[in-house]
Amino acid sequence: MPTSEIETKAAFYYIRYAQLWEDADILAEGLGECAGATLVSICSAGDNALAMLTLDPSKVVVVDLSPAQIACLNLRIGAFRNLNHTEFLELMGARSSTRRDVLLAKSLAGLNSDTQEFWKTLTEDVVKYGAGGVGKFERYFRIFRTRLLPLVHSKKAIDAIFVSRPKVERQMFLDTRFNTWRWRLLLNVFFSRFVMGRMGRDKAFFDHVEGSPAQHVARRIHHAAVDCDPAENPYLHWIMKGTHGAALPMTWREENFEVIKERLDRVEIRPGSLEAFISTGEKADGFNLSDIFEYMSPDVFAQVYETILSASAPGARLVYWNMMAPRRVPPAFANQVTTLSALENRLKARDKAFFYSDFVIEQVDG
Ligand SMILES: C[S@@+](CC[C@H](N)C(=O)[O-])C[C@H]1O[C@@H](n2cnc3c(N)ncnc32)[C@H](O)[C@@H]1O
Repeated sequence: MPTSEIETKAAFYYIRYAQLWEDADILAEGLGECAGATLVSICSAGDNALAMLTLDPSKVVVVDLSPAQIACLNLRIGAFRNLNHTEFLELMGARSSTRRDVLLAKSLAGLNSDTQEFWKTLTEDVVKYGAGGVGKFERYFRIFRTRLLPLVHSKKAIDAIFVSRPKVERQMFLDTRFNTWRWRLLLNVFFSRFVMGRMGRDKAFFDHVEGSPAQHVARRIHHAAVDCDPAENPYLHWIMKGTHGAALPMTWREENFEVIKERLDRVEIRPGSLEAFISTGEKADGFNLSDIFEYMSPDVFAQVYETILSASAPGARLVYWNMMAPRRVPPAFANQVTTLSALENRLKARDKAFFYSDFVIEQVDG
């Protein structure tokens, strides 16, 4: 096999996001009433496509360009089928475990051979970090937590973040105990354009950010640490402690486990692009578009947006995030959708995946 082909295949089989860092609670509410609907979701690690099953749609069509990301969804499907809820949390890394190898093998039983082979090669990492900890994004957080955070804050100070307290006391905790000069220095270095670029984010991402990336991050930390209650934030907990505490992402919570499990056969996986789904001529009633628009130039974004409109049933909602680059309905199509601003604002205030700068809900007029 020529080298280039091996390289292509390696990139092919490379998990970027081993868990979904977008808050499914606000996604589900943003999509609104979906009983009997056809929904479309970007896969990423698969958690949010599964969360969409709680809305009782007739199907969730899941697309992703990356086979490794599709393999994350397939593993979850196997885990929901073959594990109980406690075992599921252990496998994923939300809870500590000494038996992840066994749980992984149990989850893989019955899945296609590509998925089995793929995950078998990752067994060692799954045992160490949980299946939700093996992506590039999680590795980035792990470096932050294990190598840098200990230089700045004690374990006691980090544990204290997750003690529930009223908002005024959260502000006081941030000001007096957490936001030290060392912490500010850490943010400035770790989130510098140079380091973020090196760690996998295109430097151009920051072109639209107000102020420096570190200032953007400091604003978002205020949202997570003061505006919202950190004790209820599974994403912050994982970043700071490498596992979940009492709070869990929607798909991983016990109350949703059986409903998702019963509806797994409504998931229709279509490896490939969103554009490929659109070209089938099918119409959808709602789209979870993750933050894919941010990876497109404004021109390509406008072209793709137009095709999504052509694949939307009247009343369909387009739900998506922006991390840094601003993307909202392109002016040419503004007369075909209504932005649900009041709902957006209500949900943005609660967005536990705090690092996004914007959350968008646009409803196709019909
Ligand atoms: C945009 S990334 C963002 C991930 C996210 N912020 C998270 O927390 O998981 C999500 C996924 O979108 C996929 N993707 C990007 N553009 C796509 C497209 N046009 N069609 C299908 N999948 C796409 C990527 O392969 C990736 O797995």
